[in-house]
Amino acid sequence: MAPSPKKTEADHTAAPVKVKAQTAAPAAPLPAGISVDAPGGGDDLFAADPLRACATLDALASVIDACRKCQLGSSRLHSVPGEGDPRSGLVVVGEAPGATEDETGRPFVGRAGQLLTEILKAIHLPREEVFICNVLKCRPPGNRDPEPLEVSACSPYLHRQLELIGPRVILAMGRPAAHALLGSNASLNELRGKVHRYRGVPLIVTYHPAALLRNPHWKRPTWDDVRIARRIYDGERV
Ligand code: URA
Repeated sequence: MAPSPKKTEADHTAAPVKVKAQTAAPAAPLPAGISVDAPGGGDDLFAADPLRACATLDALASVIDACRKCQLGSSRLHSVPGEGDPRSGLVVVGEAPGATEDETGRPFVGRAGQLLTEILKAIHLPREEVFICNVLKCRPPGNRDPEPLEVSACSPYLHRQLELIGPRVILAMGRPAAHALLGSNASLNELRGKVHRYRGVPLIVTYHPAALLRNPHWKRPTWDDVRIARRIYDGERV
């Protein structure tokens, strides 16, 4: 008997099922200025976000220096992004640079800054071992209070700094810092004496060093607050 012809792979393949071709409905034209493509042509919608693209604090500092999102970018002498250990377990956040900070480009180097250095020494932390920055990265003229639009324009830099550093604890000095980080409107007295959370990170609120220069009797409660921050820095679970 003649051998049956060898089956080929094609013989085992099921007959193709006929699928009715799907004809896509013609896309409605997009309004002018709207694009469905990710910015920059990538498939990651966030790839073109200049802050996300900053992988280091130095890269972020360059973006901050070029920032003109609010009027302060044009009136200041130097931007003051912040300084210290980029891997620190503690980030100190103040309000905005003052005159000396504007002249030097460094945070907390005037009288309030000297007091901050003392406060940190009192909890056995040299200032080089922490990261120090402000909500605003440019000086408001005449040291006026930050305006809400300036805070909204500048806060993304602070959020990205905190994301890059990944501290174990944050010390918010003064109401503007606490409000920017906690999205709260509460008074400093209401905010003190609690461990808050900023994106899961413990956050302690205390007086701003400039306030301590005006009201030295607030130093005692400030020491209490920073000692709590130190305990969390040391690993105490909260
Ligand atoms: N006050 C602040 O809030 N930040 C500084 O850098 C200096 C003074």
